[in-house]
Amino acid sequence: MVVAQGEQGLTLALTEEHIALQRAVREFAQKEIAPIAAAFDETGEFPLETIRKMGEMGLMGIEVPEEYGGAGMDALAYVLTMIEVAKADASHSTIVSVNNSLYCHGILKFGTEAQKQQWVTPIATGEQIGAYSLTEPMSGSDAGTMASRAVLSDDGTHYIINGRKSWVTSGPVADKLILFTMTEPEKKHHGITAFLIDAHQPGFIRGKKEPKLGIRASATSEIIFEDYKCPVENVLGEPGQGFKIAMTVLDAGRIGIASQALGIAEAAYEAAVQYARERIAFGEPIGRFQMIQQKIADMKTRIEASRMLIYNAVLAKERAKKTGGRYTTEASMAKLFASETAAFVTDEAVQIHGGMGYSKELAIERYYRDARITRIYEGTSEIQRMVIARNELGLR
Ligand code: CAA
Repeated sequence: MVVAQGEQGLTLALTEEHIALQRAVREFAQKEIAPIAAAFDETGEFPLETIRKMGEMGLMGIEVPEEYGGAGMDALAYVLTMIEVAKADASHSTIVSVNNSLYCHGILKFGTEAQKQQWVTPIATGEQIGAYSLTEPMSGSDAGTMASRAVLSDDGTHYIINGRKSWVTSGPVADKLILFTMTEPEKKHHGITAFLIDAHQPGFIRGKKEPKLGIRASATSEIIFEDYKCPVENVLGEPGQGFKIAMTVLDAGRIGIASQALGIAEAAYEAAVQYARERIAFGEPIGRFQMIQQKIADMKTRIEASRMLIYNAVLAKERAKKTGGRYTTEASMAKLFASETAAFVTDEAVQIHGGMGYSKELAIERYYRDARITRIYEGTSEIQRMVIARNELGLR
């Protein structure tokens, strides 16, 4: 089934393989993840067991070629997976997204053959957890400014890294990370270098775990580097290429977050439709009232518009694989619209459920809390608007 058509005659088609994957992920997510989501949200425990099982299913490295332990599928397969996992639990989908797009994608695109073998395989199989570390306490949206430093040793064999990184998704449990830090501060963006970091080496210190509003089972923490020695062969790409790598990786990541937002919105929407059919007020199901109908119509329309923007971004990403170009605007539009849709839909779902939407007895309040982060991480809505407008206007 053709689901979208783009420029240059490129077509996005849902193949039998995609449909089988979607069905398998949906069954797994509804059977094994949805029933534990509330408990893991409550405790904030990292769901290692289900993540390992998803690794065995190939879901921790969907676009990673089979020779590096992945499923060897395409960008559409990744999006379909993210939607289904997020529908069951946003926290699980955050962990899936970081392993797949923020970690594996960057090494596959910029790494050497030896780096791919060593650094991608254990993460794509789900045996280990990957992470991406760009943000610092004083460097969030303005990612080109950072205080952490990597200094080349006198004998030129390794870098010594010092500094504090923050908001590292999977930070408390990660085995391997891509770290972005300054090697030549006077060169600003062109002085940032990407490093492959083994979290089990001296000088790698896990800082405080963030107590969060939502996606509570996806652990987030600070990471402190104290004279961490990183061999020069663990530089990803070229020294000074780090900012470009970080941004390229975020383009892929933002399609994943858009899909996560869509999955959360779909879960909230389906619950709201069911409730509107069943809940009786003033002698009839509340779905018979026009004010509820308006909400349902607006929720559904925005959900389907998000899906189309995500498919548009997937098309652009597949085109970029062939041409080497960028798909920054398409990824930002998908993330912007889908994350704002998730906020709208989960809020309306709470409203339709009334008091029950506010109660922890149902999943609606969790969807509402989980949706909030999608407008913040991997670039706020304000940053997405800035990226889209700058690209359209041809500004830097
Ligand atoms: N792809 C490739 N290169 C890119 C690029 C992209 N998408 N975007 C920018 N660049 C390049 C530019 O071409 C430019 O290169 P040259 O200097 O060689 O010409 C260079 O990068 C600098 O670009 P800008 O001048 O546009 O940089 P800027 O300082 O104005 O910032 C920004 C641009 C878009 C605001 C960027 O800083 C940004 O995206 N900020 C948000 C950061 C973010 O999303 N953080 C989330 C971190 S991850 C996370 O959330 C946690 C987690 O674990 C999930």
